[in-house]
Amino acid sequence: MNSVTRQISSERKNQIKLIIQSDVERTIEKTLDPPLHPIWTNIEKEFSQLVGLEEVKEMIKHIVAWSIVNQKRKELGLKSDHHALHMLFKGNPGTGKTTVARIMAKQLCELNILSKGHLIEVERADLVGEYIGHTANKTRELIKKSMGGILFVDEAYSLARGGEKDFGREAIDTLVKHMEDKKDDFILILAGYGAEMDNFLRLNPGLRGRFPHVVTFPDYTADELMEIARKFCREKEFVLTAAGADRIGMYIRNVSADRHSPAKDNGRFIRNTIESIVRAQAVRLLKNQSFTRQDLMMLTEKDVLIALNEKD
Ligand SMILES: Nc1ncnc2c1ncn2[C@@H]1O[C@H](COP(=O)(O)OP(=O)(O)O)[C@@H](O)[C@H]1O
Ligand SMILES: [Mg+2]
Repeated sequence: MNSVTRQISSERKNQIKLIIQSDVERTIEKTLDPPLHPIWTNIEKEFSQLVGLEEVKEMIKHIVAWSIVNQKRKELGLKSDHHALHMLFKGNPGTGKTTVARIMAKQLCELNILSKGHLIEVERADLVGEYIGHTANKTRELIKKSMGGILFVDEAYSLARGGEKDFGREAIDTLVKHMEDKKDDFILILAGYGAEMDNFLRLNPGLRGRFPHVVTFPDYTADELMEIARKFCREKEFVLTAAGADRIGMYIRNVSADRHSPAKDNGRFIRNTIESIVRAQAVRLLKNQSFTRQDLMMLTEKDVLIALNEKD
């Protein structure tokens, strides 16, 4: 062993002594506050990326907790159970319904509640056919493809719109039949605007009881929309200048105050706004022929103003 190595190893020894002390403290902390189940922690992490949506996050926590405990009961030879997890999602466009369903499919797969964890998103035209028997076949086929995951029917009430002779009824009947038969390894979510969903359920009283989970996705507040805007920028590796962010904040507050405003499209409105700012930035960069890493990332107040003027 040469002298340098000896020196390093004696330094290491000193470090090791120090680490041991703090390790002990950390271990005591850990004993006082034991870590939650690893899957729980993972799910919390995934959902914490979504702004707001407290009711949704709470419901998912309950399902996850039940599933973990149910599994523990099974391990100890106690009776375990199967709960149907079909859901109704009510909310305006852009409130995160599809996003939540997609994350949930993945997470329920981690929990072994679903075997594949995929999401199939459909609407009336995917389910309803053109002649007698065609609809039942189309719907059955989609249910088959969704096994192991989630079948997400957007604007579900459009299935009931055409009256008695409409084939939409046949789609509803087929979905209902299969959601009862396939309680395990299949989740059906009917989604759409709150008022239309309520009306749909009133006209089909048998349906409500088949969905144990009804979740409301509220419109985002101006502050939440701003947080979503910041999140979009971070995810796409853009940086908003402080003045640029202020401008977006002002714009969101003005637009949210208007009852018929595009802000009612919630997350979609924010995505479109950021995308138009990114296009304004691109025009500026091309004009200036400036393409440093910082230039490519920075969204300035001027970009925001140009983009918002074009939108008006
Ligand atoms: N709570 C949220 N946090 C972050 N982004 C969100 C949130 N809700 C919606 N978004 C974003 O808004 C857009 C529209 O969301 P989406 O799930 O398609 O809404 P919906 O299905 O209700 O119409 C997506 O790009 C999504 O990532
Ligand atoms: Mg959607």
